[in-house]
Amino acid sequence: MKTKQIRLAERPVGMPNEDNFKWTEEDLRAPDTGEVVLKSLYISVDPYMRGRMNDQKSYVEPYGLDEVISGGVIAQVHQSNSTELEEGDFVIGNLGWATYQIAHEDALRKIDPSQAPITTHLGVIGMPGITAYFGLLDIGKPEPGETVVISGAAGAVGTVVGQIAKIAGARVVGIAGSDEKLAYLKDELKFDAVVNYKTDDLFESLKQACPDGVDVYFDNVGGEVSDAVLRLINKGARIPVCGQISLYNLKKPDLGIRVQPNLLVNSAMMKGFIVSDYGAHFQDAVTDLAKWLQEGRLQYKETVVEGFEKIPEAFIGLFKGENIGKYIVKVAEPSN
Ligand SMILES: NC(=O)c1ccc[n+]([C@@H]2O[C@H](COP(=O)([O-])OP(=O)(O)OC[C@H]3O[C@@H](n4cnc5c(N)ncnc54)[C@H](OP(=O)(O)O)[C@@H]3O)[C@@H](O)[C@H]2O)c1
Repeated sequence: MKTKQIRLAERPVGMPNEDNFKWTEEDLRAPDTGEVVLKSLYISVDPYMRGRMNDQKSYVEPYGLDEVISGGVIAQVHQSNSTELEEGDFVIGNLGWATYQIAHEDALRKIDPSQAPITTHLGVIGMPGITAYFGLLDIGKPEPGETVVISGAAGAVGTVVGQIAKIAGARVVGIAGSDEKLAYLKDELKFDAVVNYKTDDLFESLKQACPDGVDVYFDNVGGEVSDAVLRLINKGARIPVCGQISLYNLKKPDLGIRVQPNLLVNSAMMKGFIVSDYGAHFQDAVTDLAKWLQEGRLQYKETVVEGFEKIPEAFIGLFKGENIGKYIVKVAEPSN
């Protein structure tokens, strides 16, 4: 049987483009003992993948040139040579951008489609949701009545951060890049105030949105947006540094305002984290997130595009702000 794959053809310089990827097709071998043949159903595109396209040391290995790009994938077992997984089972794993592939049972986690829609394992109860949970609750530690500001607020991580902050009793201010996103945050997710960083006077709008200053700043984007928020922090502010997407495609390092004096005079804490730091406690997050989801206290949105060939375009779309909530590519229908 044949499989199509998407590989890294060349390392992007600046904003990625379609020429950075190449499509291949090859025959799939038979699965060995403990292995299964998987049919990809939903492929996750995530900003961290941009870092893996550079040849530089980070918390995950860079993709090799010509290597099949990999990331979060929800797949269905098409053929099984495993005693743990049966044909038709749904699984999630760190898998390739491929229509079909072979994986070992140990590299997969079975998911129960009756518990929650399977795509939620890529978003609200998956890696982005878990990131939001630990970044906010372990580092941000919002108290009732405090002001929590979130950049990248309408994305996969940001939407969950804001809702958990509301559950914690905080006042929530979201920053995002379109009025459609702001309307979603305000009307559906009940954020207290919203700011469009592209069209509003950023600092003045933030000042109005945060009359009591900023106690927690959940930073998903960095750059000038963060420079503006940091001018408003209160004494004892906590700043979980989750992502810096505004810097990922820069060709030269961005020299910004030095933050240390501001942290110093406010006895503030800024802490970077990677979700895998909390690997031993993932189940705690998933239990709470799934419970809030079932209780209707947590809502989610997904931007789903269809077609295996659309994956690079969707990935690039993350940097253009195309998505509200989790960005996912649907590759195939599940089989019965
Ligand atoms: N630390 C961790 O373990 C961890 C785990 C997951 C994700 N992250 C990070 O968290 C952040 C959010 O990830 P996500 O998966 O939830 O992605 P996402 O927010 O769903 O998608 C990316 C969003 O970023 C915004 N964006 C793109 N370019 C921007 C720019 N130049 N300036 C400001 N905003 C920009 C866009 O929204 P707008 O329309 O609002 O611009 C876009 O929709 C990323 O920085 C990611 O790297 C970190």
